Amino acid sequence: MMSCLRPCFGRRFKRIVYFMLVFLCMVFVFMRIGTLGRGTNQKDRTTPRDLLQHREHILISSDNATTTILPAKDKSVIYIQEHIDRFTKLLITNRDICSEKQIDLIIYIQSHWINVERRRSLRETWIDNNLFTDVIIKHVFILGKPNNKPDQVKINNENLIHKDIIQGDFIESFQNITLKSIVALNWINKNCRQAKFVAKADDDVFVDVFKVVNTLLPSVQNKTRNIVCSVKENNTSPIVRDTKSKWYIPEYIFPNRTHLPRFCIGYFVLLTSDLVPELAHASQGAQYIPVDDVYLFGFLLQSLNQVGYIDIARNMTIDENFALDTFSKGKHSHLLAAHANKDDYIQKMWTEVLFAQNKDKP
Ligand SMILES: *[C@@H]1O[C@H](CO)[C@@H](O)[C@H](O)[C@H]1NC(C)=O
Ligand SMILES: *[C@@H]1O[C@H](CO)[C@@H](O)[C@H](O)[C@H]1NC(C)=O
Ligand SMILES: *[C@@H]1O[C@H](CO)[C@@H](O)[C@H](O)[C@H]1NC(C)=O
Ligand SMILES: *[C@@H]1O[C@H](CO)[C@@H](O)[C@H](O)[C@H]1NC(C)=O
Ligand SMILES: *[C@@H]1O[C@H](CO)[C@@H](O)[C@H](O)[C@H]1NC(C)=O
Ligand SMILES: *[C@@H]1O[C@H](CO)[C@@H](O)[C@H](O)[C@H]1NC(C)=O
Repeated sequence: MMSCLRPCFGRRFKRIVYFMLVFLCMVFVFMRIGTLGRGTNQKDRTTPRDLLQHREHILISSDNATTTILPAKDKSVIYIQEHIDRFTKLLITNRDICSEKQIDLIIYIQSHWINVERRRSLRETWIDNNLFTDVIIKHVFILGKPNNKPDQVKINNENLIHKDIIQGDFIESFQNITLKSIVALNWINKNCRQAKFVAKADDDVFVDVFKVVNTLLPSVQNKTRNIVCSVKENNTSPIVRDTKSKWYIPEYIFPNRTHLPRFCIGYFVLLTSDLVPELAHASQGAQYIPVDDVYLFGFLLQSLNQVGYIDIARNMTIDENFALDTFSKGKHSHLLAAHANKDDYIQKMWTEVLFAQNKDKP
């Protein structure tokens, strides 16, 4: 800062240097204003920050953006294909997970890198690869990256032991969650094409994998181009325009709409794998929507033809205690998946499901 204020008189070249410094100084000040203003919710002011961001937008878009005219305020979520390509480069690859010729189900879990304990719980319970002998199930965890080395080392070590982590080159945040979907999509498309089915879950979700294998998979085994999920029909879910929300969608996405087009609630989804290459293809050059299920199981999926939806809204719940109770009913449980946010609920539900499983045996 100080160097800008130092008087620079004299010869012509000195004057040029002076003007350059002043210019850089102004840019710096504008950027500071931009940084300080971030996170506040004053929507309708026009500041140098907005102008600057508009400029940045133009710069960002000059290499042929795929998006339309974008308001300056939402710069932080304007990802064009070039950014997406860069951020979804893999830091941890694990190309060999699907080395077998026949794979029935690949499950990908979107997980925050910090949730080591959740991943441990999942590996010990429903995601355990060795539960079935006649059905081959693989899993991967899809992670973003921490912003420091020691944490990255921890993730590397976790992966050395379990070899089930796929990590994209982006910092974890709500806005970046969609990058996880893209990482998963591309990874499966490249490395696990042979899987018959693909399932997605979040790391705070419990799935009755016995029910999936014994009931759900047989019921869809001859199907193609199908998705099994909790379907939210066109115009039934309000679009969240509150910048502070986890589900915030900027105004330039779905302009003039108050409610979302059809999509699937993303905490548990199962699809026939024939949709994967098409979704991966559709993602190329597609608008980035920072809410992953709206993007992948809504926006991209809607762009494909003749997809069948099988609605399992009734078989999913976010009510953990209700789920715990229901899972204990074994054969009489109608649930496939549930949120299990509280610490030991994954374990508790697992205990119920295992117990019921044995109880139901003839
Ligand atoms: C960039 O956009 C312009 C105008 O829309 C188009 O004519 C041109 O072909 C595009 N270039 C590339 C490399 O896509
Ligand atoms: C998303 O990831 C990119 C790439 O690492 C990073 O620059 C950006 O800050 C992240 N977004 C947020 C909101 O953290
Ligand atoms: C799937 O196809 C096989 C062979 O054609 C058939 O035996 C089986 O009953 C079908 N399953 C379902 C659920 O339709
Ligand atoms: C969804 O609703 C919008 C607006 O009400 C309508 O224009 C659109 O055609 C609908 N989409 C489908 C696929 O039905
Ligand atoms: C949204 O509505 C405005 C004003 O009614 C109109 O000018 C604009 O073209 C609409 N945009 C879209 C994408 O429909
Ligand atoms: C979903 O729940 C309904 C009852 O609400 C049940 O009839 C159906 O079999 C369940 N579906 C699966 C795949 O478990």
